[in-house]
Amino acid sequence: MDEIKNPYRPGAGTPPVSLAGRDDQIKKATTLLKIVQAGGSDRSLMLYGLRGVGKTVLLNHAEEIAASLHFHVQHLELSEKDDFRREIAKTVRKALLAISLVDNLKEKAKRALGILKAFTLAIPDGPEFKLDIDAVLGTGDSGDLNSDIVDLLTALGDAAKEAGRPVCLFIDEVQYLEEAAFAGLLASVHRINQKQFPVVFICAGLPQIAALSADAKSYAERLFEFLPIGRLIDTEAETALLGPAKTQGVNFTDEAKDFLLAETEGYPYFIQEFGKHTWNAAKASPISLEDATNARDAAIVSLDDSFFKSRIDRSTDAEKEFMKAMAQIGTGPYKMGDVAKQKGVLVNSLGPVRATLIGKGFVYAPSHGLIEFTVPQFDKFIRRHFKI
Ligand SMILES: Nc1ncnc2c1ncn2[C@@H]1O[C@H](COP(=O)(O)OP(=O)(O)OP(=O)(O)O)[C@@H](O)[C@H]1O
Ligand SMILES: [Mg+2]
Repeated sequence: MDEIKNPYRPGAGTPPVSLAGRDDQIKKATTLLKIVQAGGSDRSLMLYGLRGVGKTVLLNHAEEIAASLHFHVQHLELSEKDDFRREIAKTVRKALLAISLVDNLKEKAKRALGILKAFTLAIPDGPEFKLDIDAVLGTGDSGDLNSDIVDLLTALGDAAKEAGRPVCLFIDEVQYLEEAAFAGLLASVHRINQKQFPVVFICAGLPQIAALSADAKSYAERLFEFLPIGRLIDTEAETALLGPAKTQGVNFTDEAKDFLLAETEGYPYFIQEFGKHTWNAAKASPISLEDATNARDAAIVSLDDSFFKSRIDRSTDAEKEFMKAMAQIGTGPYKMGDVAKQKGVLVNSLGPVRATLIGKGFVYAPSHGLIEFTVPQFDKFIRRHFKI
């Protein structure tokens, strides 16, 4: 069928035509924003889930809701290499300038800009901001990331309250935050809530962010509500698959639908990719099982090139060998002992590679002694890619 009218949209953060199965999370975000807008406070949100389940799409959706409620919004996407100090400094600067009238700076906004200046002065080769304001020395410039972030974000909160403008910060790929920065973020939310400042955070990341130690977890859970974002089930997956075609009067036979739902296992990225290729392969409505099976190979090639391959390319040889051993065992989660046996080494010797794989976001530990890929069906990809 007409490729130009293809309603499926595989891509990082690309909004789907049918945003299926996320009503609860959208409601939670909307309620939180309305509470803060009304002068109250509640826990910020932390969305977590595997690659391609739709975390970024949800963040972007919540951002639109926040903007429609007259929040000032800022979006921050972290990467492995980013220095959080620089990123948060740039974000806070933009927020401060947006919520204050620059030619008529109020007291708290001036102070916040002064703290921002002190904060950036403490960053080696820090970003050069042309801020015609004196640094508030002694605040936000201790060099201790945790407490400096608290100073900076609390000053932003103070300025937001003074300006009567709520602020929502969206932070994506939050698993890349180093420990001190994560601790600083938590402590900032704590302080901001105590002071009832109108600042709220909606963050998203891989499942490793939920794997905190018991103490750290109970503290984090008082400040953030952790919302798992999973694969789509039953009617949700059906809506995601059938909904986009339906907007153009196109249907699927039951056999085609069942085949595609089984292949994609309800993972949003896969539904978009298989939907796209099946649409292109079909001649007319209803889309048949034959269309879907004909499109399968093209969908897999496309997934390998876009979704999977870019990820494996970021791993070292030792990391690849570790992941190959996982995939050789079958589907996960995997016992570390089994991975060691597969490689013919002692479990302890795998510690360093395991740690870098978690740090890079390839794998996470669902529970003690277990390891699993953060990318759905990554084991199948590795077996295809390395011809295991
Ligand atoms: N609820 C949904 N219903 C249908 N399709 C969805 C849904 N959520 C996301 N998608 C589609 O899935 C794909 C991946 O979405 P997104 O980039 O938001 O995932 P992600 O969880 O942020 O992935 P990553 O961890 O790789 O950043 C996109 O093509 C998007 O259109
Ligand atoms: Mg994302």
